[in-house]
Amino acid sequence: MSAPSTSSGIQLITNIGELTTNVGPSTGSGIHPEDRGGTIPDAAVLIEDGRIAWVGPSTSAGTHSRPADEVMDAGGRAVIPGFVDSHSHLVFGGDRAAEFEARMAGQKYAAGGIRSTVAATRAATDDELRARLRGFLDEMLAQGTTTVEIKSGYGLDVATEERLVRLAAEVTDEVTFLGAHVVPAEYADRADDYVDLVIGEMLDACAPHAKWIDVFCETGAFTVPQSRRVLEAGIARGLMPRVHASQLGPGEGVQLAVELGAASVDHGTYLTDDDVAALAASDTVLTLLPGVEFSTRQPYPDARRLIDAGVTVALACDTNPGSSFTSSMPFCIAVAVREMGMTTAEAVWAATAGGAAALRRDDVGVIAPGKRADLVLLDAPTRVHLAYRPGVPLVAGVWKDGVRR
Ligand code: NIG
Ligand code: FE
Repeated sequence: MSAPSTSSGIQLITNIGELTTNVGPSTGSGIHPEDRGGTIPDAAVLIEDGRIAWVGPSTSAGTHSRPADEVMDAGGRAVIPGFVDSHSHLVFGGDRAAEFEARMAGQKYAAGGIRSTVAATRAATDDELRARLRGFLDEMLAQGTTTVEIKSGYGLDVATEERLVRLAAEVTDEVTFLGAHVVPAEYADRADDYVDLVIGEMLDACAPHAKWIDVFCETGAFTVPQSRRVLEAGIARGLMPRVHASQLGPGEGVQLAVELGAASVDHGTYLTDDDVAALAASDTVLTLLPGVEFSTRQPYPDARRLIDAGVTVALACDTNPGSSFTSSMPFCIAVAVREMGMTTAEAVWAATAGGAAALRRDDVGVIAPGKRADLVLLDAPTRVHLAYRPGVPLVAGVWKDGVRR
């Protein structure tokens, strides 16, 4: 992370044209089906000890208990919660620009491409992987992301998977062990033996550094019974489940995720009506990854159908060298609004409070007293501009734990 540029004393931000709190009703176009994504016009926020101390109308900003050490006039610009990117694969070597270019020339995306990144990752040193990882985090922070989940999954042997979760744990609490990303070449035709390794020696080495267990439950990766073994072994070790499913075609991964109480099931490009009903009746979040459909030329999932059915939807970047090499939440919001049937209010909620729900976090994603002071100042009067002005760098300031970065 880059060095803080401002002290972390008591700070007051005034004259915020539109503050998205994600608490209470929106004063804008409204949000469906619940009044999530609440906003306050002409607002102010007080930050103390890295937390939000007070939120209210600018005109009442003098009524809080203690004077601020620092006052900043937002000049009528919008402030939103820091983005919570609940799905990324940031520890890897090499890239796959040639594969992307071949895809744009008509080739199909397939899970097997992951193996070429495995070779480059195994060959990279810890310092090389760490420098790359920190570069991505800086890039994300500059685009407003203040919480990031990071998965392993490009090592696929005990030693390399252990390195990946250990490096991820240096920079985030949200570390996911994804040894079951794909079957590595040396286990070709021996997938069950590889699952034995994942839930045995590899889990032993990785569990101490991780909070989550994940599996790619998809044709070309792991079957439902194999995925169940992986998830149940992780749960038995105290890790919490999340699942990659229904990315390349319909399958039973969503039902498995719901049955096992996963915090989130991610991708959901091909969902059946039964999947949608099961999600709506569950606490499992469906995390949509618009960068994947964009970069693989797959059809966009219909977020409107999900939200209307009562599913909790999150948005994340899925930054990885294969299916989605963007780290930009504003880009994903713009695509989700344009292509997936979301309003901007819903998309911003999904990229902040939705991501927090997908990580079972209640300290981020919301701007309210007691929550972490993770804020994004936009160079625009409303959050709608995030989709209305796609591709324009609108992030004018980022606070992480109350410190301006
Ligand atoms: O989330 N779906 C599986 N894993 C990644 C893709 C990884 C890759 O292609 O390297 C994803 O899209
Ligand atoms: Fe992924």
